[in-house]
Amino acid sequence: MGLAGKTIASHVSGDRLWDRLMALARFGATDAGGVCRLALSSEEIEARAELVKWARDIGLEPSVDAAANLFLTLPGTEPELPPILTGSHIDTQPTGGKFDGAYGVIAALESLDAIVRSGRRPRRSIEAVAWMNEEGSRFAPGMMGSAVFAGVRPMAEIEAVTDASGCSVGEALGQVLAAEEALPRRPLGFPVAGYLEAHIEQGVVLEREATTIGVVIGIQGKRTFRVEIDGEESHAGTTPRGARRDALVSAVHVVQALQDAIWDEADEVRFTIGRFTVTPNAPSVVPGKVVFSIDLRHGDAETVEALGDMIPGICEAAAGKCTAAVQKLLHDEPLVFPESMRGRIGKAADRLGLSHMELPSPAGHDARYLHKVCPSGMIFIPCKEGISHNEAESVTIADATAGTQALAEVVFELAEQG
Ligand code: GLV
Ligand code: MN
Ligand code: MN
Repeated sequence: MGLAGKTIASHVSGDRLWDRLMALARFGATDAGGVCRLALSSEEIEARAELVKWARDIGLEPSVDAAANLFLTLPGTEPELPPILTGSHIDTQPTGGKFDGAYGVIAALESLDAIVRSGRRPRRSIEAVAWMNEEGSRFAPGMMGSAVFAGVRPMAEIEAVTDASGCSVGEALGQVLAAEEALPRRPLGFPVAGYLEAHIEQGVVLEREATTIGVVIGIQGKRTFRVEIDGEESHAGTTPRGARRDALVSAVHVVQALQDAIWDEADEVRFTIGRFTVTPNAPSVVPGKVVFSIDLRHGDAETVEALGDMIPGICEAAAGKCTAAVQKLLHDEPLVFPESMRGRIGKAADRLGLSHMELPSPAGHDARYLHKVCPSGMIFIPCKEGISHNEAESVTIADATAGTQALAEVVFELAEQG
C-alpha cells in the first residue's frame, strides 16, 4: 500500500459526498434548481431526519441540544476528553443554493465516514454538527444556534424572536424537538477542543487564483439594524401632499441619505438593505409605516463601529415629517483565526498535493462564535463566479472532494491531540 492508501483522505469518496449533497438539496428544492429550506421549517425537519439516518448508517450517534443544534458523534477512544466539532448549517436563504452551509455539514459527515472506513479511531470524539438558523432569514439575526452554544446570546432572547407570520423561535424549536424526541439531549454548550468549518468561498478569489483550498484568515466585522419609519395612513385621493406623513417617501429619503453617507471610494464597505416592508401596502392608502433591515460589514473594527454609530442620526435627520426609530440588532467585530489552525490546514493541503492560499471571509459563519470558545478555523473551496445566496450556486465535485479530504485530515489530526 502506498502513502495515499494510509491517509484518512484516501477514504473520502467524492461520489458519496456528491450523492448526499444532491439528496439533501431535494428538501426544499426550488424550480430554478436552488433550495428554500428556512430555519426550523418542515423542510428542515425532514432534511435533519435524513442526516440522522445517514449518521446511523455510518455508525455515528445523533443527539440534539435545546437550541436544535444537531450533533452526529463518532466516539473517540477517550470519549471523556472534549471533542472536536466540524460542520456548518443546513438552513438556506429563501432563494438559496445547494451548497451554502450544506457543503460543510455533508463534508463533515463524509470525513467521519472516511475515518470509520479507515479502521482508525481518534482519541477524542469527533462530532459533525448542523447549527440552528445560521442564515437569519426567517428569524433575524442569524447564527442563533452557535451563538447560544457559545454563550454569546441567552436562550430566552432568541426564543422570543418571531418570523413574519408571528411564529416565535421558541414555538418553532418546539416543533423540531418534538420531531426529534427520541434523540439523546445534550447540554446547551459543552467544552470543545477545536472547531473546523468547511464552506464554499462565496467570492471569486480562489477561482481567479486557480487555487483549490482557501485557508481562512478571519471574518470581517458586521453590524445589523432594524429601522422603522412611522408616518400616518391616509386616503390617496383626498389627502393633499402638504398634509401627508408618507412613510414610504420618508424611507426613500432615509435610504438615499444612508447610501450617500456610507459610500466609500475604495468600495470596501458592504451596505445592504435586503428587506423592506410597507404597511398597509395597499394601492390607495398613503403608507403609514415602513420597516427595513440594514446589514453593514467591513474588515476594520473601528470603521464598522463608526459607520454603524452614524446610522441612527442619519435616519432621524432624513425622516422629515415622519419619525425614524433605529434598533441595533447585532455587532460582531472582525476576527482572526489562530495561526496554529491555519498552519495545520496549509500543511494538510501540502501533504495532499492541493494548491492553497490564505484569504479573508467577507461572509459570516458559525465559526465566528465557536472561535470564542475553542481554537477554530475554516476551509474554503471555490464556487462558480462567486455566486451565492442565489439558486445558481455551483461547485465542482473535484473541489468539493478536495476540501473534504483536507477537512478529514485536519479533524483527525486535531482529535489525536492530547
Ligand atoms: C451568512 O450567510 C452571511 O450573510 O454572511
Ligand atoms: Mn453559510
Ligand atoms: Mn448564507
